[in-house]
Amino acid sequence: MSSIDQTILLHEISKLKSKQAQWEPYAWYKEVRENNSVFYDTEQDVWNVFSYEHAKRVLFDHQLFSNKKERSLVTVPRMDNRSNVNFVDPPEHRNRRALLAKAFTPRALEVWEPRIQAVVNELIMGIEDLTTIDVVEKLAIPLPVTVIADLLGVPSKDWARIKFWSDIIFLPYAKDTYDDIAAQKAQVMKEFYEYLYPIVLEKRKHPVDDIISDLTKAELEGEKLTDEEVVMSAIGLLGAGNETTTTLISNVFYSMLFDKPGVYQEVRADLSLVPNLIEEVLRFRFPAPMDRKVTQDTDVFGHPMKQGQMVVAWIGAANRDEAQFAHAEEFDIHRPNNQHHLTFGAGPHFCLGAPLARMEARIALASFVKRFANIEPAPGFELTEHLTDSALGQSLKSLPIRLA
Ligand code: HEM
Repeated sequence: MSSIDQTILLHEISKLKSKQAQWEPYAWYKEVRENNSVFYDTEQDVWNVFSYEHAKRVLFDHQLFSNKKERSLVTVPRMDNRSNVNFVDPPEHRNRRALLAKAFTPRALEVWEPRIQAVVNELIMGIEDLTTIDVVEKLAIPLPVTVIADLLGVPSKDWARIKFWSDIIFLPYAKDTYDDIAAQKAQVMKEFYEYLYPIVLEKRKHPVDDIISDLTKAELEGEKLTDEEVVMSAIGLLGAGNETTTTLISNVFYSMLFDKPGVYQEVRADLSLVPNLIEEVLRFRFPAPMDRKVTQDTDVFGHPMKQGQMVVAWIGAANRDEAQFAHAEEFDIHRPNNQHHLTFGAGPHFCLGAPLARMEARIALASFVKRFANIEPAPGFELTEHLTDSALGQSLKSLPIRLA
Protein backbone atom coordinates (compact mmCIF):
# COMPACT_ATOMS: atom_id res chain seq x y z
CA MET A 1 0.00 0.00 0.00
CA SER A 2 1.25 3.49 -0.81
CA SER A 3 2.05 6.15 1.76
CA ILE A 4 2.42 9.85 1.18
CA ASP A 5 6.22 9.46 1.10
CA GLN A 6 5.87 7.03 -1.79
CA THR A 7 3.59 9.27 -3.79
CA ILE A 8 4.59 11.99 -6.23
CA LEU A 9 1.94 14.71 -6.09
CA LEU A 10 1.83 16.23 -9.57
CA HIS A 11 -0.32 19.20 -8.69
CA GLU A 12 2.29 20.24 -6.14
CA ILE A 13 4.79 20.46 -9.00
CA SER A 14 2.57 22.18 -11.53
CA LYS A 15 1.09 24.62 -8.99
CA LEU A 16 -1.98 24.60 -11.24
CA LYS A 17 -4.65 24.69 -8.59
CA SER A 18 -7.98 25.37 -10.26
CA LYS A 19 -9.73 22.63 -12.19
CA GLN A 20 -9.89 24.91 -15.20
CA ALA A 21 -6.12 25.49 -15.12
CA GLN A 22 -5.50 21.76 -14.81
CA TRP A 23 -7.80 21.06 -17.75
CA GLU A 24 -5.85 23.53 -19.88
CA PRO A 25 -2.24 23.20 -18.64
CA TYR A 26 -0.90 23.83 -22.14
CA ALA A 27 0.25 27.45 -21.68
CA TRP A 28 2.22 26.35 -18.61
CA TYR A 29 3.62 23.35 -20.54
CA LYS A 30 4.75 25.66 -23.34
CA GLU A 31 6.40 28.13 -21.01
CA VAL A 32 8.32 25.41 -19.17
CA ARG A 33 9.22 23.56 -22.38
CA GLU A 34 10.66 26.71 -23.88
CA ASN A 35 12.41 28.14 -20.81
CA ASN A 36 13.18 25.41 -18.35
CA SER A 37 12.51 22.09 -20.03
CA VAL A 38 14.51 20.02 -17.52
CA PHE A 39 14.09 21.09 -13.91
CA TYR A 40 14.28 19.72 -10.42
CA ASP A 41 11.41 20.17 -7.96
CA THR A 42 12.86 20.22 -4.46
CA GLU A 43 9.63 19.75 -2.57
CA GLN A 44 8.52 16.64 -4.46
CA ASP A 45 12.16 15.65 -5.00
CA VAL A 46 11.79 14.81 -8.68
CA TRP A 47 13.30 15.79 -12.01
CA ASN A 48 10.84 16.92 -14.67
CA VAL A 49 11.34 16.72 -18.42
CA PHE A 50 9.09 18.45 -20.91
CA SER A 51 10.50 18.00 -24.41
CA TYR A 52 9.50 15.20 -26.77
CA GLU A 53 13.05 13.98 -27.19
CA HIS A 54 13.72 13.76 -23.46
CA ALA A 55 10.36 12.17 -22.65
CA LYS A 56 10.95 9.53 -25.30
CA ARG A 57 14.43 8.78 -23.95
CA VAL A 58 13.03 8.35 -20.43
CA LEU A 59 10.48 5.83 -21.72
CA PHE A 60 12.81 3.87 -24.00
CA ASP A 61 16.01 3.77 -21.97
CA HIS A 62 15.05 1.31 -19.26
CA GLN A 63 18.69 0.77 -18.31
CA LEU A 64 19.05 4.38 -17.22
CA PHE A 65 15.41 5.02 -16.29
CA SER A 66 13.92 2.09 -14.44
CA ASN A 67 10.29 1.27 -13.75
CA LYS A 68 11.26 -0.56 -10.55
CA LYS A 69 10.47 2.24 -8.20
CA GLU A 70 9.57 2.78 -4.56
CA ARG A 71 7.91 6.15 -5.21
CA SER A 72 5.48 6.90 -8.01
CA LEU A 73 2.81 9.20 -9.33
CA VAL A 74 0.73 6.10 -10.14
CA THR A 75 -2.15 6.25 -7.68
CA VAL A 76 -3.23 2.61 -7.95
CA PRO A 77 -2.42 0.72 -4.71
CA ARG A 78 0.87 -1.18 -5.11
CA MET A 79 0.83 -4.84 -6.02
CA ASP A 80 4.32 -6.17 -5.50
CA ASN A 81 3.92 -9.62 -6.97
CA ARG A 82 4.17 -11.24 -10.39
CA SER A 83 0.81 -9.79 -11.43
CA ASN A 84 2.44 -6.36 -11.70
CA VAL A 85 3.47 -5.97 -15.31
CA ASN A 86 4.33 -2.29 -14.99
CA PHE A 87 6.71 -1.80 -12.04
CA VAL A 88 9.35 -4.11 -13.47
CA ASP A 89 12.14 -3.89 -16.08
CA PRO A 90 13.29 -6.13 -18.91
CA PRO A 91 14.25 -8.96 -18.99
CA GLU A 92 11.91 -9.90 -16.08
CA HIS A 93 9.20 -7.71 -17.61
CA ARG A 94 9.14 -9.65 -20.87
CA ASN A 95 7.55 -12.86 -19.55
CA ARG A 96 4.98 -11.07 -17.43
CA ARG A 97 3.94 -8.98 -20.38
CA ALA A 98 3.81 -11.97 -22.72
CA LEU A 99 1.19 -13.54 -20.46
CA LEU A 100 -1.20 -10.70 -21.16
CA ALA A 101 -0.10 -9.78 -24.65
CA LYS A 102 -1.88 -12.55 -26.49
CA ALA A 103 -5.25 -11.15 -25.46
CA PHE A 104 -4.51 -7.96 -27.38
CA THR A 105 -3.02 -9.22 -30.65
CA PRO A 106 -4.61 -8.03 -33.92
CA ARG A 107 -6.10 -11.51 -34.36
CA ALA A 108 -7.63 -11.52 -30.90
CA LEU A 109 -9.10 -8.11 -31.60
CA GLU A 110 -10.59 -9.19 -34.90
CA VAL A 111 -12.65 -11.64 -32.90
CA TRP A 112 -13.67 -8.80 -30.61
CA GLU A 113 -14.67 -6.30 -33.26
CA PRO A 114 -18.26 -7.54 -33.76
CA ARG A 115 -18.79 -7.74 -30.01
CA ILE A 116 -17.61 -4.14 -29.55
CA GLN A 117 -19.85 -3.08 -32.43
CA ALA A 118 -22.81 -4.81 -30.76
CA VAL A 119 -22.17 -2.97 -27.46
CA VAL A 120 -21.93 0.34 -29.35
CA ASN A 121 -25.13 -0.38 -31.28
CA GLU A 122 -26.97 -1.07 -28.07
CA LEU A 123 -25.70 2.13 -26.46
CA ILE A 124 -26.66 4.19 -29.51
CA MET A 125 -30.10 2.60 -29.61
CA GLY A 126 -30.57 3.81 -26.03
CA ILE A 127 -30.11 7.46 -27.03
CA GLU A 128 -31.76 7.52 -30.45
CA ASP A 129 -34.96 9.18 -29.31
CA LEU A 130 -33.35 11.75 -27.05
CA THR A 131 -32.48 15.32 -27.95
CA THR A 132 -29.96 16.06 -25.18
CA ILE A 133 -27.63 13.45 -23.68
CA ASP A 134 -24.64 13.26 -21.43
CA VAL A 135 -22.23 11.54 -23.80
CA VAL A 136 -19.89 10.57 -20.95
CA GLU A 137 -22.67 8.76 -19.10
CA LYS A 138 -24.30 7.19 -22.15
CA LEU A 139 -21.26 6.16 -24.20
CA ALA A 140 -17.79 6.98 -22.86
CA ILE A 141 -18.26 5.26 -19.48
CA PRO A 142 -20.28 2.11 -20.30
CA LEU A 143 -18.43 1.09 -23.47
CA PRO A 144 -14.91 0.43 -22.14
CA VAL A 145 -16.03 -1.13 -18.88
CA THR A 146 -18.51 -3.47 -20.58
CA VAL A 147 -15.92 -4.53 -23.15
CA ILE A 148 -13.09 -5.15 -20.69
CA ALA A 149 -15.41 -7.06 -18.33
CA ASP A 150 -16.49 -9.26 -21.24
CA LEU A 151 -12.92 -9.86 -22.34
CA LEU A 152 -11.90 -10.96 -18.87
CA GLY A 153 -14.98 -13.10 -18.37
CA VAL A 154 -16.53 -11.03 -15.58
CA PRO A 155 -20.32 -10.50 -15.79
CA SER A 156 -20.74 -7.27 -17.74
CA LYS A 157 -24.06 -6.64 -15.97
CA ASP A 158 -21.86 -5.69 -12.98
CA TRP A 159 -20.24 -2.87 -14.95
CA ALA A 160 -21.43 -0.06 -12.69
CA ARG A 161 -19.83 -1.71 -9.64
CA ILE A 162 -16.60 -2.37 -11.53
CA LYS A 163 -16.54 1.22 -12.71
CA PHE A 164 -17.10 2.49 -9.15
CA TRP A 165 -14.24 0.38 -7.80
CA SER A 166 -11.79 1.25 -10.54
CA ASP A 167 -12.57 4.97 -10.25
CA ILE A 168 -11.61 4.89 -6.58
CA ILE A 169 -8.49 2.85 -7.22
CA PHE A 170 -7.38 5.52 -9.71
CA LEU A 171 -8.41 8.56 -7.59
CA PRO A 172 -5.60 11.10 -7.39
CA TYR A 173 -3.99 11.80 -4.05
CA ALA A 174 -3.82 15.28 -2.59
CA LYS A 175 -1.81 16.46 0.40
CA ASP A 176 -4.70 17.34 2.71
CA THR A 177 -6.91 14.35 1.93
CA TYR A 178 -4.23 11.69 1.57
CA ASP A 179 -5.26 9.42 4.47
CA ASP A 180 -8.93 9.52 3.59
CA ILE A 181 -8.25 8.62 -0.05
CA ALA A 182 -5.82 5.86 0.96
CA ALA A 183 -8.49 4.36 3.25
CA GLN A 184 -11.11 4.44 0.49
CA LYS A 185 -8.69 2.70 -1.87
CA ALA A 186 -7.89 -0.01 0.69
CA GLN A 187 -11.59 -0.69 1.27
CA VAL A 188 -12.34 -0.87 -2.44
CA MET A 189 -9.37 -3.16 -3.14
CA LYS A 190 -10.81 -5.53 -0.54
CA GLU A 191 -14.29 -5.46 -2.09
CA PHE A 192 -12.93 -5.87 -5.62
CA TYR A 193 -10.76 -8.76 -4.46
CA GLU A 194 -13.66 -10.52 -2.74
CA TYR A 195 -15.81 -10.08 -5.85
CA LEU A 196 -13.21 -11.53 -8.22
CA TYR A 197 -11.83 -14.33 -6.05
CA PRO A 198 -14.74 -16.79 -6.51
CA ILE A 199 -14.81 -16.00 -10.24
CA VAL A 200 -11.12 -16.94 -10.47
CA LEU A 201 -11.63 -20.20 -8.51
CA GLU A 202 -14.52 -21.15 -10.78
CA LYS A 203 -12.53 -20.47 -13.94
CA ARG A 204 -9.56 -22.43 -12.65
CA LYS A 205 -11.86 -25.41 -12.26
CA HIS A 206 -13.78 -24.86 -15.50
CA PRO A 207 -11.76 -22.68 -17.85
CA VAL A 208 -13.55 -21.08 -20.77
CA ASP A 209 -12.45 -18.71 -23.54
CA ASP A 210 -11.58 -15.52 -21.67
CA ILE A 211 -8.58 -13.74 -20.16
CA ILE A 212 -9.10 -14.85 -16.55
CA SER A 213 -9.30 -18.50 -17.63
CA ASP A 214 -6.12 -18.04 -19.69
CA LEU A 215 -4.35 -16.54 -16.70
CA THR A 216 -5.29 -19.48 -14.46
CA LYS A 217 -3.64 -21.80 -16.98
CA ALA A 218 -0.59 -19.66 -17.72
CA GLU A 219 2.86 -20.32 -16.28
CA LEU A 220 5.60 -17.89 -15.31
CA GLU A 221 9.10 -19.27 -14.76
CA GLY A 222 7.64 -22.77 -14.70
CA GLU A 223 5.02 -22.01 -12.05
CA LYS A 224 1.32 -21.31 -12.42
CA LEU A 225 0.04 -17.95 -11.19
CA THR A 226 -1.54 -18.16 -7.74
CA ASP A 227 -5.22 -17.29 -7.29
CA GLU A 228 -4.14 -14.02 -5.71
CA GLU A 229 -1.92 -13.17 -8.68
CA VAL A 230 -4.75 -13.87 -11.12
CA VAL A 231 -7.15 -11.68 -9.11
CA MET A 232 -4.59 -8.86 -8.99
CA SER A 233 -3.91 -9.14 -12.74
CA ALA A 234 -7.64 -8.91 -13.38
CA ILE A 235 -7.94 -5.82 -11.17
CA GLY A 236 -5.01 -4.29 -13.06
CA LEU A 237 -6.60 -4.89 -16.46
CA LEU A 238 -10.09 -3.83 -15.39
CA GLY A 239 -8.62 -0.59 -14.08
CA ALA A 240 -6.09 0.15 -16.82
CA GLY A 241 -8.59 -0.05 -19.63
CA ASN A 242 -11.35 1.92 -18.02
CA GLU A 243 -10.78 5.51 -17.07
CA THR A 244 -8.24 6.00 -19.86
CA THR A 245 -10.57 4.91 -22.66
CA THR A 246 -13.50 6.82 -21.13
CA THR A 247 -11.30 9.92 -21.12
CA LEU A 248 -10.37 9.36 -24.75
CA ILE A 249 -13.97 8.99 -25.95
CA SER A 250 -15.14 11.99 -23.88
CA ASN A 251 -12.27 14.10 -25.19
CA VAL A 252 -13.08 13.18 -28.80
CA PHE A 253 -16.49 14.77 -28.35
CA TYR A 254 -15.09 17.76 -26.48
CA SER A 255 -12.51 18.40 -29.21
CA MET A 256 -15.10 18.16 -31.99
CA LEU A 257 -17.26 20.72 -30.19
CA PHE A 258 -14.69 23.13 -28.80
CA ASP A 259 -11.20 22.59 -30.21
CA LYS A 260 -12.25 22.47 -33.85
CA PRO A 261 -15.94 23.08 -34.53
CA GLY A 262 -16.76 21.77 -38.00
CA VAL A 263 -14.79 18.55 -37.58
CA TYR A 264 -17.99 16.59 -36.92
CA GLN A 265 -19.32 17.37 -40.39
CA GLU A 266 -15.95 16.75 -41.99
CA VAL A 267 -15.72 13.30 -40.44
CA ARG A 268 -19.36 12.53 -41.20
CA ALA A 269 -18.65 13.23 -44.86
CA ASP A 270 -15.53 11.06 -44.84
CA LEU A 271 -15.38 8.29 -42.26
CA SER A 272 -11.82 7.42 -43.26
CA LEU A 273 -10.79 10.45 -41.14
CA VAL A 274 -11.94 8.76 -37.92
CA PRO A 275 -8.61 7.08 -36.99
CA ASN A 276 -6.63 10.29 -37.49
CA LEU A 277 -9.12 12.32 -35.50
CA ILE A 278 -8.67 9.91 -32.61
CA GLU A 279 -4.86 10.08 -32.84
CA GLU A 280 -5.05 13.88 -32.83
CA VAL A 281 -7.19 13.87 -29.69
CA LEU A 282 -4.69 11.52 -28.03
CA ARG A 283 -1.88 13.91 -28.97
CA PHE A 284 -3.66 17.16 -28.26
CA ARG A 285 -5.66 16.58 -25.13
CA PHE A 286 -4.31 13.92 -22.79
CA PRO A 287 -2.09 14.87 -19.83
CA ALA A 288 -0.81 11.39 -18.74
CA PRO A 289 2.64 12.02 -17.22
CA MET A 290 4.89 9.01 -16.51
CA ASP A 291 7.70 8.41 -14.05
CA ARG A 292 10.92 6.38 -13.78
CA LYS A 293 13.83 6.01 -11.35
CA VAL A 294 17.36 7.10 -12.33
CA THR A 295 19.60 4.00 -12.06
CA GLN A 296 22.99 5.76 -12.08
CA ASP A 297 24.37 9.29 -11.87
CA THR A 298 23.95 10.90 -15.27
CA ASP A 299 23.94 14.21 -17.09
CA VAL A 300 22.30 12.98 -20.31
CA PHE A 301 19.87 15.88 -20.14
CA GLY A 302 22.58 18.44 -19.26
CA HIS A 303 21.79 18.41 -15.53
CA PRO A 304 23.29 16.30 -12.76
CA MET A 305 20.73 13.58 -12.03
CA LYS A 306 21.64 11.28 -9.16
CA GLN A 307 21.11 7.56 -8.85
CA GLY A 308 17.82 6.85 -7.08
CA GLN A 309 16.15 10.15 -7.96
CA MET A 310 12.81 10.11 -9.75
CA VAL A 311 12.10 11.66 -13.10
CA VAL A 312 8.68 12.62 -14.44
CA ALA A 313 8.17 12.82 -18.22
CA TRP A 314 5.36 15.31 -18.91
CA ILE A 315 3.81 13.56 -21.90
CA GLY A 316 1.13 16.20 -22.53
CA ALA A 317 3.92 18.75 -22.94
CA ALA A 318 6.01 16.44 -25.14
CA ASN A 319 2.99 15.92 -27.40
CA ARG A 320 2.90 19.63 -28.15
CA ASP A 321 6.62 20.04 -28.77
CA GLU A 322 7.14 22.06 -31.98
CA ALA A 323 10.38 20.16 -32.61
CA GLN A 324 8.25 17.07 -33.25
CA PHE A 325 4.87 18.43 -34.37
CA ALA A 326 4.61 21.49 -36.61
CA HIS A 327 2.06 24.03 -35.30
CA ALA A 328 1.74 21.77 -32.29
CA GLU A 329 -0.80 23.96 -30.50
CA GLU A 330 -3.23 23.56 -33.40
CA PHE A 331 -5.81 20.78 -33.45
CA ASP A 332 -5.38 19.30 -36.92
CA ILE A 333 -6.90 15.96 -37.90
CA HIS A 334 -4.88 15.96 -41.12
CA ARG A 335 -1.55 16.03 -39.31
CA PRO A 336 0.50 13.28 -40.96
CA ASN A 337 2.53 12.22 -37.90
CA ASN A 338 0.11 12.61 -35.01
CA GLN A 339 0.30 8.87 -34.25
CA HIS A 340 3.82 9.57 -32.94
CA HIS A 341 2.28 11.04 -29.77
CA LEU A 342 3.51 9.46 -26.53
CA THR A 343 0.09 9.09 -24.90
CA PHE A 344 0.30 5.28 -24.96
CA GLY A 345 3.89 5.46 -23.71
CA ALA A 346 6.84 4.13 -25.72
CA GLY A 347 9.47 1.41 -25.46
CA PRO A 348 9.07 -1.77 -23.41
CA HIS A 349 5.97 -0.64 -21.50
CA PHE A 350 4.06 0.68 -24.53
CA CYS A 351 0.38 0.34 -23.65
CA LEU A 352 -0.79 -3.23 -24.17
CA GLY A 353 -4.38 -2.09 -24.57
CA ALA A 354 -3.70 0.58 -27.21
CA PRO A 355 -5.17 -1.47 -30.09
CA LEU A 356 -8.27 -2.18 -28.03
CA ALA A 357 -8.72 1.45 -26.95
CA ARG A 358 -8.27 2.61 -30.54
CA MET A 359 -10.76 0.07 -31.81
CA GLU A 360 -13.38 1.02 -29.22
CA ALA A 361 -13.02 4.73 -29.95
CA ARG A 362 -13.10 4.22 -33.72
CA ILE A 363 -16.19 2.01 -33.68
CA ALA A 364 -17.98 4.32 -31.23
CA LEU A 365 -17.27 7.45 -33.22
CA ALA A 366 -17.97 6.03 -36.68
CA SER A 367 -21.29 4.58 -35.52
CA PHE A 368 -22.23 7.81 -33.76
CA VAL A 369 -21.57 10.16 -36.69
CA LYS A 370 -23.39 7.82 -39.07
CA ARG A 371 -26.47 7.94 -36.85
CA PHE A 372 -26.64 11.64 -35.85
CA ALA A 373 -26.57 14.50 -38.35
CA ASN A 374 -25.00 16.96 -35.95
CA ILE A 375 -24.06 17.68 -32.36
CA GLU A 376 -23.96 20.93 -30.39
CA PRO A 377 -22.99 21.83 -26.83
CA ALA A 378 -26.07 21.76 -24.58
CA PRO A 379 -27.37 25.29 -23.98
CA GLY A 380 -25.72 27.01 -21.01
CA PHE A 381 -22.75 24.60 -20.99
CA GLU A 382 -20.19 25.68 -18.36
CA LEU A 383 -17.00 23.63 -18.51
CA THR A 384 -16.09 23.99 -14.82
CA GLU A 385 -19.30 22.26 -13.77
CA HIS A 386 -18.25 19.17 -15.68
CA LEU A 387 -14.65 18.68 -14.57
CA THR A 388 -13.56 16.10 -12.08
CA ASP A 389 -10.35 15.00 -10.42
CA SER A 390 -8.70 12.26 -12.32
CA ALA A 391 -5.57 10.19 -12.00
CA LEU A 392 -4.45 11.60 -15.32
CA GLY A 393 -4.98 15.23 -14.52
CA GLN A 394 -8.34 16.72 -15.17
CA SER A 395 -11.11 14.97 -17.06
CA LEU A 396 -14.77 15.39 -17.92
CA LYS A 397 -17.24 13.81 -15.52
CA SER A 398 -20.07 14.75 -17.87
CA LEU A 399 -20.52 16.38 -21.27
CA PRO A 400 -24.09 17.31 -22.16
CA ILE A 401 -24.65 17.60 -25.91
CA ARG A 402 -27.61 18.23 -28.20
CA LEU A 403 -28.29 15.71 -30.91
CA ALA A 404 -29.68 16.59 -34.30
C1 HEM B 1 -6.87 5.71 -24.30
C2 HEM B 1 -6.67 4.65 -23.55
C3 HEM B 1 -5.36 4.30 -22.89
C4 HEM B 1 -4.28 5.07 -22.60
C5 HEM B 1 -4.07 6.55 -22.88
C6 HEM B 1 -3.29 4.21 -21.98
C7 HEM B 1 -2.03 4.63 -21.57
C8 HEM B 1 -1.03 3.77 -21.15
C9 HEM B 1 0.33 4.17 -20.92
C10 HEM B 1 0.87 5.56 -21.04
C11 HEM B 1 1.03 3.06 -20.53
C12 HEM B 1 2.54 2.98 -20.25
C13 HEM B 1 2.86 3.16 -18.79
C14 HEM B 1 4.36 3.23 -18.54
O1 HEM B 1 5.15 3.42 -19.46
O2 HEM B 1 4.74 3.08 -17.37
C15 HEM B 1 0.10 1.96 -20.50
C16 HEM B 1 0.41 0.70 -20.15
C17 HEM B 1 -0.52 -0.32 -20.07
N1 HEM B 1 -1.82 -0.28 -20.49
FE1 HEM B 1 -2.79 1.32 -21.26
N2 HEM B 1 -3.81 2.95 -21.86
C18 HEM B 1 -5.06 2.95 -22.42
C19 HEM B 1 -5.93 1.87 -22.54
C20 HEM B 1 -5.65 0.61 -22.09
C21 HEM B 1 -6.55 -0.52 -22.22
C22 HEM B 1 -7.91 -0.52 -22.91
C23 HEM B 1 -5.91 -1.57 -21.62
C24 HEM B 1 -6.40 -2.99 -21.52
C25 HEM B 1 -7.19 -3.47 -20.76
C26 HEM B 1 -4.62 -1.11 -21.14
C27 HEM B 1 -3.69 -1.89 -20.51
C28 HEM B 1 -2.40 -1.50 -20.24
C29 HEM B 1 -1.41 -2.38 -19.61
C30 HEM B 1 -1.62 -3.83 -19.17
C31 HEM B 1 -0.22 -1.62 -19.52
C32 HEM B 1 1.11 -2.08 -18.90
C33 HEM B 1 2.08 -2.46 -19.98
C34 HEM B 1 3.49 -2.66 -19.47
O3 HEM B 1 3.88 -2.09 -18.44
O4 HEM B 1 4.22 -3.42 -20.13
N3 HEM B 1 -4.50 0.21 -21.46
N4 HEM B 1 -1.15 2.41 -20.90
